[in-house]
Order: sequence, then C-alpha cells, then structure tokens
Amino acid sequence: MKPQEAFEPELEELLDRHAQAFERAYGPGGKVRLFFAPGRVNLMGAHLDYNGGPVMPMAIDRGTFVALRPRKDRLLVMRSTSESGEFRFDLDAAPRAATGNWVDYPLGVALEVFRESPRAVGLEVLFGGNLPVGAGLSSSASICVGTAFSLDKVWGLELTPFARVEAALRAERQFVGVQCGIMDPYAVGLAKRGHLLWLDCKDASIEHLPIDHRAVRIAVADTGVRRELAAGAFNQRVTEARRAFEALRGFVPGSTHLRDVSSAVFASHADELDPVLRARARHVVHEVERTFAARDALLSGDVERFGRAMFETHVSLRDHYQVSVPELDCLVEAAAREPGVLGARLTGAGFGGCVVMLLRAGAEVEVAERVSRAFEQAFQRPARIEVFRGDPGPREWVR
Ligand code: GLA
Repeated sequence: MKPQEAFEPELEELLDRHAQAFERAYGPGGKVRLFFAPGRVNLMGAHLDYNGGPVMPMAIDRGTFVALRPRKDRLLVMRSTSESGEFRFDLDAAPRAATGNWVDYPLGVALEVFRESPRAVGLEVLFGGNLPVGAGLSSSASICVGTAFSLDKVWGLELTPFARVEAALRAERQFVGVQCGIMDPYAVGLAKRGHLLWLDCKDASIEHLPIDHRAVRIAVADTGVRRELAAGAFNQRVTEARRAFEALRGFVPGSTHLRDVSSAVFASHADELDPVLRARARHVVHEVERTFAARDALLSGDVERFGRAMFETHVSLRDHYQVSVPELDCLVEAAAREPGVLGARLTGAGFGGCVVMLLRAGAEVEVAERVSRAFEQAFQRPARIEVFRGDPGPREWVR
C-alpha cells in the first residue's frame, strides 16, 4: 500500500471543518471518514482527448471533500454543503435513470461501484470542496473520482486506480449523459505529486513527467464567466472534429482518430474541406505536434519553450477552434506582457472559466497584481488569481 500522503495544513483545516459540517448535517456519533480528490488544469493538448491525441494535465490542490459514515441499513443518503436537499436511495432498489440533479454524479458512480459489492452497507455522505464549479477545473471528474475512491475504501473493494477512473467515466457518460473525454478523470485519479500526467488518449497509456516546482509555479486566473451554453458548444466541437476526421481519414490508411492525420496530409487536403471543419482540423493537427514538442521541451528542462507552446495553443483555440471569449483573451494578453510569465492559455473546454499560467517562481505576487489590474481596467471587475500546488491524487485523511 502507498504510504499516507501528507496533507497541507490549510487542507487539513478545511477537511476538519467539513467533518464538523457532517455532524451538523447528520448528527454526532460513529466514525466519520474523510476523503479528498483534486481538480485539474490542462497545460497542453487542448481539445485533443476526444480526438485521440496526447494531453498533459496536472492535478491541483483544490478539489472535492467527501465525509461519510456507514449506516446499519441499506440506504445511501447524500447531501452537499453547496446545495440544499437530501437524497435517499435504497441500494436494493436504486434508480436506473438520472434525476437531473447534482447528485447524479456521485449516484452514477455509486451504482457502478456497487455492482462490485452487492452486499455493501448503506452510508451517509456529505460532499463539499474548494473548487469552483463550471470554471474548467474539472469539478465533475473530481466528485466522480472522489466518490469512486471513497466508496472503494469504505466498502473494502480494493479497486485499482484505473478501475476507479473507469467507473467515474462510465457514470459521467452513461448515467449523467455527458459525452466527456477521458482526460479529466485520468488527470484526477492517476495524479502524482511533482509531476504532470502524460496521457495518450488513443490507447489510454500514461506516464508521469516531472515538473520542477522550485523553478516554476502554476497560477489560475478566473474570468468569472460561466456559460450555460457551454455543454452544447462543447458537443458541437466534438461533432465537428468527428466530421473533419471523416473527411480526411481516407488519406491516412489505418487511421482511427483525427490525431492520426499529420500536418503534411492536412496541408495537402485542407482546401477540400468545408471552412469550419478546416479550422477545427487545423487546430487539432498542430496541437498534436505542439504537445509532443512541449513534452520534449519539458523533459530537457526548457520551460521557456514549453511556455511558448502554451501561448500558441491559446491563439489556435481562439482563432481556429473558436472556444475563447474576450475575457480569456484579455487575461492571456496581459500575461504575455509579463516577464515572469512563461506561458498562458485557457484551460478546460473554454467559453469562459479560467486561464492557466506557467510562472517563474518568485513572480507570483507581481504577476497576479498586474494581470488582475489589466482585467479590471477592461471589464470593471477583478479576476481572481490563485497559485496552485500540484496534488498527489485522491486520498483519505486519517486524523
Ligand atoms: C473539457 C472536457 C475534457 C476536454 C477539455 C478540452 O474539460 O471535459 O474532456 O475535452 O474540455 O481539452
């Protein structure tokens, strides 16, 4: 078994408060167990997961808190600190269809995991956390993987990390009904401290690549823009990328994803494509090459080159994939003017949410002040900028 991973003192304090919230919600007594699962940023490989390409996400030290306590019966009772209401499900007669509520995420996972252990006891569960929802930091993968991890521990199933990630993914795709790619649950569930995850989404193979936290910092700037339309626009990009691949696959024998189309093949046939599909394919084929080059840069310690690739990614997301908004562009442009910033781009699907920045260590305070000021001048409100540490992934806090 892995040795217990340390928790930062601030996180311990938040988890302690979460335990108190649990007792207020369900009453005192019994042994309450506490779990944490991180969110993630994606540094390179934007919109590549569902195109079968490589991605480079990193888990962050903000995420989901899960407090739970076994019951004597077979009821699964779930609440959240940020939503009202209590949801009760009989494990022997659990619903087969989603309820249309936040609880669908953990419920979908519970139904997946429960199959492995039909004699599992009922539970009282309280969810909470310190990750903004809808900001592109993967709150849904965090709650799903966090649920899989904690149920695995409390029900004694001994699932592998891959099995937990797959349960989270099936819940989100089949039960909640979101056609998400594989990056987010992998980034959350297979994280390693001090490393980025290298995930090749064509065959789901992974590697952990070290990132030198003494030399660089990861900061996230939140536009505060939350788009209701984002899910529809995201699914539209998935469809467009699939159509672009259908138009090009005949030129690449054996290809299974748009990622198999090289930039040379794309260049020879770009004129034959519909303009929208051409723009989407242009982003994908170049992003694949950029992500491989960024990997080489990281492995050779060239963080400047890695950062330049992030800026190029943002331009391509803005102009070709068209998933940026003026607030995101403003933050990236302000970041590009700062000598302490190595790279910046929107993270997650886009259409609002956050920009992720790679900073030289020591530049955090100045960059945060200046980028936030530039944003405020343009939009008359501050952008929230925070420095995140990498995170080792889901774990239990044993007090
Ligand atoms: C969202 C999806 C991910 C990925 C990114 C874009 O965050 O959940 O699977 O497609 O967008 O890189």
